[in-house]
Amino acid sequence: MRGLTIIYRHWFFPLCIALLINEALVKCVHMVHAVAGQTVILPCYTQAISSAYWRYNDSRTVCDIVKGKVYFDEQHSVYKDKVDYFPEELRKGNFSIKLLDVNSAHQGIYTCNFPNTLIPEITYLIVKEVRPRVQKAVFYSGDTRLHAHIFLLFSGVLLGLYSI
Ligand SMILES: *[C@@H]1O[C@H](CO)[C@@H](O)[C@H](O)[C@H]1NC(C)=O
Ligand SMILES: *[C@@H]1O[C@H](CO)[C@@H](O)[C@H](O)[C@H]1NC(C)=O
Repeated sequence: MRGLTIIYRHWFFPLCIALLINEALVKCVHMVHAVAGQTVILPCYTQAISSAYWRYNDSRTVCDIVKGKVYFDEQHSVYKDKVDYFPEELRKGNFSIKLLDVNSAHQGIYTCNFPNTLIPEITYLIVKEVRPRVQKAVFYSGDTRLHAHIFLLFSGVLLGLYSI
């Protein structure tokens, strides 16, 4: 899981400063980079709280964790069967979730909101789509043919040696 959360420095600093002024607390944004099809962990951790509400772009519901139970009732369709959580971690205040098989529709800002006015945990998910690599396939077939030539040449040399 190393390298999953990276702080994106370009807008990390202004955002941290804004929160520092408003809440006298530094809260930073987690950056998660993924390639389409991968599974990512969206982190969220707090102490002495048993509920958290995961939202995408402040509008779509990802899931609701209420008193240690996870609810998907109001979940937006793009998250259907794609959200998993860590049951053992919930009671420790770890509301991190797993987003399976990500695609570009999942790219955006995720907030893990807490009841009362606690500052949410914010994660920016960036999903890179991969295009089929046509050129690489051509290169490989060329490569295989080259190997075949070398093999034939080598066999030819061996046959030549044996026939002496
Ligand atoms: C929360 O749980 C996840 C999954 O087990 C783990 O990777 C992460 O380190 C935990 N976070 C904290 C702050 O314990
Ligand atoms: C969510 O927010 C991101 C970043 O602002 C934006 O690129 C994306 O289009 C938004 N997605 C939706 C569905 O509104």
